[in-house]
Amino acid sequence: KIDILFYPEKLKNAEDKAVVVLDVLRATTTIATALAAGAEKIYPVSSIKDAFSLKKKISGALLGGERGGIKVPGFDLGNSPLEYQGLKGRTIILSSTNGTKTLKKAVSAKTLIAGSIVNAKAVADYLLKLNLDVVFMPSGTDSQFSLEDFAGAGYIISLLAEEKKVELSDQAYVSFELARINPPEEILTRSFHGQRLINLGFARDVEYCAKLNLLDVVPVGRLQEGRLVIES
Ligand code: MLT
Repeated sequence: KIDILFYPEKLKNAEDKAVVVLDVLRATTTIATALAAGAEKIYPVSSIKDAFSLKKKISGALLGGERGGIKVPGFDLGNSPLEYQGLKGRTIILSSTNGTKTLKKAVSAKTLIAGSIVNAKAVADYLLKLNLDVVFMPSGTDSQFSLEDFAGAGYIISLLAEEKKVELSDQAYVSFELARINPPEEILTRSFHGQRLINLGFARDVEYCAKLNLLDVVPVGRLQEGRLVIES
């Protein structure tokens, strides 16, 4: 059974489910890209203060993330996936406006996955092996519905539906149909946050985040010593 939320919310009854958090523009795309570039661990943190204090505890960790789409002063990297290259063995501490907070809302899941368009097929294959009920959790944009995350889930659902008979909730059906009719580039370019990023000069990020099935990586989140960490 497959369901999708409209907004990020604290999950109930997720202990026996797989939860796929999406922030297609750009946090979960950046997470998949960083892991594909060799990063060993990613710590999503909510606040900038937490990011700086965690960095003091982990030697060699890189700080990444944004506020208002722009790199945080004092951070090593922004939130552009294109910056996340050559990271073999590195630890990243990531703080973004919506995505990293949504990931933390999903920690009660049996399996927590960071999904995006660039790793849609890898995530779908992983879900098929897990064989659990799935809840997709879009990050939204500043507590508003986000087109790119809702459709992003739809591309993953389409890949699942190609492989087996899936039972879709009404919302999941809308997400599936949205993705069936519209190519990712159109959805991302049309979306409110896509337009905002293009206006900030990140058109190449929007183009990159729309590349379906580019990366064969599945970011999985687990609690380690009370802290969420994402590894592949
Ligand atoms: C977020 O977490 O709000 C986004 O990833 C923002 C962004 O595009 O950097």
